[in-house]
Amino acid sequence: MAEIEPSWGHSGGGWAIAVHGGAGAVPHERRAEHQAGCVKAAEIAGEILRKKGSALDAVQAAVACLEDNPAFNAGTGGSLNRDGHLELDASIMEGSELRAGAVCALPPYLHPIAIARAVLEARRHVLYAGAGADMFARANGFSPSSDAVMVTAASRDRLADVVDGRASAGWAGGTVGAVARDAHGVVAAATSTGGTMGKDPGRVGDSPLIGAGTYADNAAGACSNTGDGEAAIKLVLAKTAIEWLRDGMLPQAAAEMAVRQLGERMGAKGGIILVDYDGRIGLARNTETMTWAAASETLDRVAFGIV
Ligand code: GLY
Repeated sequence: MAEIEPSWGHSGGGWAIAVHGGAGAVPHERRAEHQAGCVKAAEIAGEILRKKGSALDAVQAAVACLEDNPAFNAGTGGSLNRDGHLELDASIMEGSELRAGAVCALPPYLHPIAIARAVLEARRHVLYAGAGADMFARANGFSPSSDAVMVTAASRDRLADVVDGRASAGWAGGTVGAVARDAHGVVAAATSTGGTMGKDPGRVGDSPLIGAGTYADNAAGACSNTGDGEAAIKLVLAKTAIEWLRDGMLPQAAAEMAVRQLGERMGAKGGIILVDYDGRIGLARNTETMTWAAASETLDRVAFGIV
């Protein structure tokens, strides 16, 4: 568990942002890089919130920053399906009107979270999949990228490890996410991932599913999950944790309860970040690592950790 107090990050009704770089087992030699990536994302989002920008813009900017960073399993450097192709999942939600947008099994685009945001703004549908997500993106001015640009040598090596049985097939470490509460009292959450390494084509995890990987409601708070997507879907984990906040639980207690349920009920591994309507942050994991960073109106600098 992260060593933070339940009231940690309390912004006293001001803005707050927390980001995660995925639950997993980041090797010691790569931890500084992971940590720096999360700190940069929190700094970018913190700047937006400090200038009274929206929680929605802040979580999108944080996640886009992490999608650009090949150290994480999202956007460039994301996990590959068993055929060696990227199929990207992302979702975003804001808590004032419960607006939400998501894409899943998206072919390579640099910023899936920006396409999810465009879905949210269009207000017609919530989730576009595969070829339909591609069509939506093109129709809304996004330029497709390619496996040649976005697949890294590290992801190809990891896929080879999975195919040859040297690494677990269910590995989805490095999913990224962010939760924020802005100065106007609005909360938002965003999550982006390449999913599990070596997944079947068409497999979709929790990250693009509103209620499983991502949720936001001003009356309670905002949530982004990471880890075993199949387990998080079955537990409807993000919405479940938000309901605990609505019932009065503090974010840190809710985060720990969520991770306990993942382990005890599903035998699964993962992590969670939460911010409540008042700007209090909670985070927990039952994996070896979960890189995170956070900033708020009352913290004088970005806080961060990995274990
Ligand atoms: N939690 C990310 C995934 O399972 O795809």
